[in-house]
Amino acid sequence: MPQLPKYTQTGQTITFAFPNHDLQLSVLTSAIIRVFENRGDSGQSYAIEGKKEQPTDFTLKDVGDHYELTTADLLVKVDSDQHVDIYDAAGNPLAVDYRGKRQLLDKGVDKVHERLVEAEGHSVSSSTTGADSSYFQVVKSLAADEHLYGLGDKTGYLDKRGFEYDNWNTDNPAPQMENFTKLYKSIPVMYGLKNGHPYGLFFDNPYKSHFDMGKESPNYYFYSAVDGNLDYYVLGGKTLKDVVSNYTYLTGRVPLPQKWTLGYQQSRWGYSASQQEVQEIADGLKKYDIPCDAIHFDVDYMRGYRVFTWDKDKYQGDPKKFVTSLKEQGIKAIPIIDPGVKKDPDYDVYADGIKKGYFVKSPDGKVYINKVWPGDSAFPDFGRPEVRQWWAHNDKFLTDIGVGGIWNDMNEPASFEGPIPDDVVFSDQDKPSTHKKMHNVYGHNMAKATYDGLKKYQDKRPYVITRAAYAGTQKYSTVWTGDNRSIWPHIQMMIPQLCNLGMSGFSFAGTDIGGFGSDTNAELLTRWIEAAVFSPLMRNHAAMGTRHQEPWSFGEPTLSIYRKFVKLRYRFIPYLYDLFEKGTKSGLPVMRPLVLNYDNDPRVRDLNDEFMVGDSVLVAPIVEKSKTKRLVYLPAGDWVDFWNNRQYTGNQDIVVNAPLDKLPLFIKKDAILPWGNPVDHISDEPDKTMTFKVFGDQGSYDHYQDDGTDFKYQDGEFNHYTLSVNAGQVSIQLPHHGFNPAYEKITVELPDKQVVLSYDAASNSYRE
Ligand code: GLC
Repeated sequence: MPQLPKYTQTGQTITFAFPNHDLQLSVLTSAIIRVFENRGDSGQSYAIEGKKEQPTDFTLKDVGDHYELTTADLLVKVDSDQHVDIYDAAGNPLAVDYRGKRQLLDKGVDKVHERLVEAEGHSVSSSTTGADSSYFQVVKSLAADEHLYGLGDKTGYLDKRGFEYDNWNTDNPAPQMENFTKLYKSIPVMYGLKNGHPYGLFFDNPYKSHFDMGKESPNYYFYSAVDGNLDYYVLGGKTLKDVVSNYTYLTGRVPLPQKWTLGYQQSRWGYSASQQEVQEIADGLKKYDIPCDAIHFDVDYMRGYRVFTWDKDKYQGDPKKFVTSLKEQGIKAIPIIDPGVKKDPDYDVYADGIKKGYFVKSPDGKVYINKVWPGDSAFPDFGRPEVRQWWAHNDKFLTDIGVGGIWNDMNEPASFEGPIPDDVVFSDQDKPSTHKKMHNVYGHNMAKATYDGLKKYQDKRPYVITRAAYAGTQKYSTVWTGDNRSIWPHIQMMIPQLCNLGMSGFSFAGTDIGGFGSDTNAELLTRWIEAAVFSPLMRNHAAMGTRHQEPWSFGEPTLSIYRKFVKLRYRFIPYLYDLFEKGTKSGLPVMRPLVLNYDNDPRVRDLNDEFMVGDSVLVAPIVEKSKTKRLVYLPAGDWVDFWNNRQYTGNQDIVVNAPLDKLPLFIKKDAILPWGNPVDHISDEPDKTMTFKVFGDQGSYDHYQDDGTDFKYQDGEFNHYTLSVNAGQVSIQLPHHGFNPAYEKITVELPDKQVVLSYDAASNSYRE
């Protein structure tokens, strides 16, 4: 047996000297260990910011044929063959290197043969083709009972086992199906439930990477990258929730949003080509009594697709006046900004970028040009801090007009005239690098620049929406899932897609309600608004040329049902806002798969048509055409049917009737939910009253209130209310009172009575 390598220790990092290279293990916390091998790449992580290492006790022992590094939560074994095996504290295997033989799918195939197959348009798995010397892979054992989650926005199902995925941000307008390996975002974090034991693996490599989740063989999974360092983090925890919390500790958590961003939003590519059309939409929302907080302005509002311009001719000479008037109508304007800057020497943003050398260049030193909406365009070099500052400064043009946020699109970056070559010179911070390295973090850096600009020029929590992202982008931006279609498979896909995005740190996410491409229809739109009532980002958006899908487009009964569900959303906004506030500390998503709350229940490990909102709300939408009843699985505990208060015990399937106007909705027994006042828009004025609904005769709830807009809460300007109900008796305390006015009156609705309490300044609490 080969000798164990020598090692050195610096702080919490152990370096093992293997003959060809060093392997490092760093203990960040008792549940986060980094495995690192320098393969020649330099630079910092884009996902992880700041120091994450905490003083942590651990031991390292030579046990003869391997070393054992032990923390309170994890055990790592390193042997002389460079295997790295991770176990939980009880010794259950989590991420263990695979030692058996590879089971290649097509053993005799060579490159020539593969190219031929590709010539007809088939893709051949890259598992056998990583020929470059910079390519590497890590192969881990897969247990017979192992379920895999995460990977951000990938298509397909909740459980990723058996599929393969690529991380290479891609804008592919074809209908996205479960066979798509790549989409707009690269979020290389995966979670495993191995024989019921949870763990996570974050592969922090921005180059093109590949995850084979047991496609090649049911005995192992592997992840590989075309270049860069071997750099992955193993995440432990007693529950899947702990693991997600550890991942978001590492890469950052969704900051508290402005409250109105949880409201309904209306969009369509084409509206913003005329002020009149946008006003007609605002009028329609009012006329048909649909609460709404924002209208999005797609590329048509600009002057010839020039970013940071607003075509005055389309806006009666004064876009600011119109945006202000919309705001007075309760509606914020959210304009789109793409990265491509039109090549036009007479256009100030282009001229300025050229003068300052802020665009990416071909290896020959010329500014690299490709085509996007504006035609020939240059691409800002967002990896450079100076370019991000410049971009952030450009945001001032929009904040001066009074926009409510900025929507970033096409930032994979998409290009219409063929892909951007790998060797185009993009910067990695201040060092020249390549498109090959910086592609997957391009959208991340653009979103960060946009966030910084909004933060600087508005006194508000920035509202950014981005299509492309990397791990960690959740600190700066919300996301939507890009160009879905108005087809039933895409309302179905919304559930696993948003649930996996949530587990991957992206709690604030949504899909285009009604579907973006292709033509929606009354039934699909109706079911979509029902399914999306709890979608953290709630926006109806459609492509130019498709059938209109505003709430009133199909007449009755679509309009009334649509209205009912948007109004229901506004009632739930205080609950959603509470979940976002809790998420800033726990990193847990708002919308989540049942497996996150019930990781020891085998029934929910691949459940694709139900989800939960926090711990208390279970949603089982109808996502199939012509269906009016369905099975709903209720996990352990007792459940209350939201619509008729009927009670069910869990651990069983029930049949639920769901005619077109019904969303099957269950509340955990004894849960307490805040219940927003009926409003048309989320107001900046503080609520004077609040209602809480109690789904039982006991329970407790923590509720948060602040001004919903700026950063004063960070200086203590917020209220924290605690409610408890015992045998029908209600008590409400205000353990933190930093925001004024606190609610004057609180109504608590119990199953059989209503209790009204008023604020008592003397005791700083509430009394009947
Ligand atoms: C992209 C976006 C879409 C937008 C369109 C025009 O396809 O994903 O949302 O409407 O570009 O800007």
